[in-house]
Amino acid sequence: MKILFAAENKTKCIIFAPLYSTMNRKAIFVTEKSSSNIAIVKYWGKHGDQLPNNPSVSFTLSNCFTETSIEYDPDFNHGISFLFEGVESPKFKEKIDKYLEKHSGLFEFDTDVFSHLKIESRNSFPHSSGIASSASSMSALVLCLLKLEKALCDDDSPVDLRRASMLARLASGSAARSVFPVMALWGETPCVSGSSDEYAVPLENLVAPVFKTYHDTILIVSNKEKNVSSRAGHALMNGHPMAESRYATARYNTQRLIGSLRDGDLSTFVEIAESEAVQLHELMATSNPPYRLIEPNTLEIIDEIRDFRTRTGVPVCFSLDAGPNVHLLYPNEYNGLVCDFIEESLKCYCFDNQYISDFVKIS
Ligand code: PMV
Repeated sequence: MKILFAAENKTKCIIFAPLYSTMNRKAIFVTEKSSSNIAIVKYWGKHGDQLPNNPSVSFTLSNCFTETSIEYDPDFNHGISFLFEGVESPKFKEKIDKYLEKHSGLFEFDTDVFSHLKIESRNSFPHSSGIASSASSMSALVLCLLKLEKALCDDDSPVDLRRASMLARLASGSAARSVFPVMALWGETPCVSGSSDEYAVPLENLVAPVFKTYHDTILIVSNKEKNVSSRAGHALMNGHPMAESRYATARYNTQRLIGSLRDGDLSTFVEIAESEAVQLHELMATSNPPYRLIEPNTLEIIDEIRDFRTRTGVPVCFSLDAGPNVHLLYPNEYNGLVCDFIEESLKCYCFDNQYISDFVKIS
């Protein structure tokens, strides 16, 4: 049975640092969900401790999420145990260990807490969907740790999402944006006051209603794990011949995108989304060494989408993450037409006819 910890009084937690003493020795169980996101302006290239070389803007998704639970069990003395979908995952465990080794001091509890944690995680999207999960998994982990921090102090106030975003950023840059629903901006830009390289800010109140109705249908071109990690990709931006012009373009695209989101200007949105997606893969193609993550069917799908848009006037567009799968983005009002288009013209290019229907997460 899970026992919820109740501190004797909150003052105790405030006076003593660290805020929670393991002498209280009661078990606590917390759980949190966090979604994946798709960037419209891409973060590609970083410096310092996970600081972006340009601002980025993303939609937060609904159906693609990670659910993480943490049990603090004083009788469990084996450090951190980690199960992914019920099975030990040494690769992800190593990521968690490294993160906590470096950043445990940023959490307001005794480091001894880290000797008694059982962490479990699962993704809502299938293993083999080729969907990158670092944004959802690392933001879910951080949100869960912050919830634990509060539970240990019997503090039932909500988690500070700005702090969550900053801590998530240190684990995986794009995770900084996942803590907010609807859309988020990460990186300083003159057009949004309060924007920062340290954490993301919510754009929920700065976007026209149409963007809160957006669908993202993820067309699964390949379910294989990518052979070049995002970490390696970011590193290849150092010394990349197009780096400086890329960062300037991304800054400019951010400003134009923020304007189009505010005004509900779909044609500018479409232009920027597709240009950013293509640029990301061009940067990979022109890095040293060069590499390619898109596949022939990615290009077939892109051509079909552009052809459909020209024929019908439906403002559907694509985005790409660091992989071959295509994110098909469109407002809800065109859902019927686009669903028919997917079934008739796009599904055939997908691995095993697979796609995931997702949409923007509303708070
Ligand atoms: O958060 P990382 O280090 O996995 O990098 C993500 C980079 C892209 O997904 C390609 C773009 C983005 O802004 O999410």
